[in-house]
Amino acid sequence: MHQGSPERPWVFAHRGSSYRHAEHTLDAYLLAIEEGADGLECDVRLTRDGHLVCLHDSRIDRTSDGRGRVSVQTLAELDRFDFGSWRTDLPESPDGLITDRKLADDRWRGRVLTLDRLLSLAVDAGRPMRLLIETKHPTRYGAAVETALITLLRRYGLHRPDADQPVHVTMMSFSATAVRRVRQLAPGLPTVMLIDVWSVPSRIGWLPPGSSIGGPGVSLLRASPEIVERLHRRGFPVYVWTVNEPDEIDLVVKLKVNGIISDRPAFVIERLRER
Ligand code: G3P
Ligand code: CA
Repeated sequence: MHQGSPERPWVFAHRGSSYRHAEHTLDAYLLAIEEGADGLECDVRLTRDGHLVCLHDSRIDRTSDGRGRVSVQTLAELDRFDFGSWRTDLPESPDGLITDRKLADDRWRGRVLTLDRLLSLAVDAGRPMRLLIETKHPTRYGAAVETALITLLRRYGLHRPDADQPVHVTMMSFSATAVRRVRQLAPGLPTVMLIDVWSVPSRIGWLPPGSSIGGPGVSLLRASPEIVERLHRRGFPVYVWTVNEPDEIDLVVKLKVNGIISDRPAFVIERLRER
């Protein structure tokens, strides 16, 4: 996995800048790029007709005006729904130095975001961009999610690290099976098995060769801060989610993590600058 240094951890936008815009929308990612995030995190799921879309939940009920499972709908069917207007708690004041200059035009606002579109956004960002792509519930569909992911990444030449490419992709999953499949399909692609329980010794036993470990969540780190040192001793970088509050930022910086995954990248960047 790519490593931000403990002196200046990399800052990733969790589901885009999802504190200020509905998660996984084009606006959320455009803002994250504008805010200076080092990278973008997204979850992906497969539609009935084989498109990867950036959505966290198995159903669209929470994050749209539609209902039902993602996996039984086509992309065209999902595209009828509004994924942007469900947030009623958007903050009034911005985090840090933000402009809304590059937000999506009306044609795209609130539409379901495909991974394809997110990849082109990252390629067009005009600066190095790191993408953390997390596959959700991959084992339910055989190898369809991983196959679709690698096919898409190949189209962009992003299925393996390339020093000439400004976009660097890491595939992540809580499922060892999914990580193993991706290692077979694209051996050069960095892969990360996510952990959110403190059982690293046994997890390392499941770790597909060549992949890294990512995690844990900040609440686990608060309860067991020694995790960072133990992971570092074993040679693993530590990327922590979802770090949004000042005390959480201070904690993970003190613990010298390598990456901070946050809904509020501008806020984190500003706080890192002040230190
Ligand atoms: O970056 C990993 C983190 O996003 C995992 O949790 O539920 O937000 O996908 P979740
Ligand atoms: Ca995720």
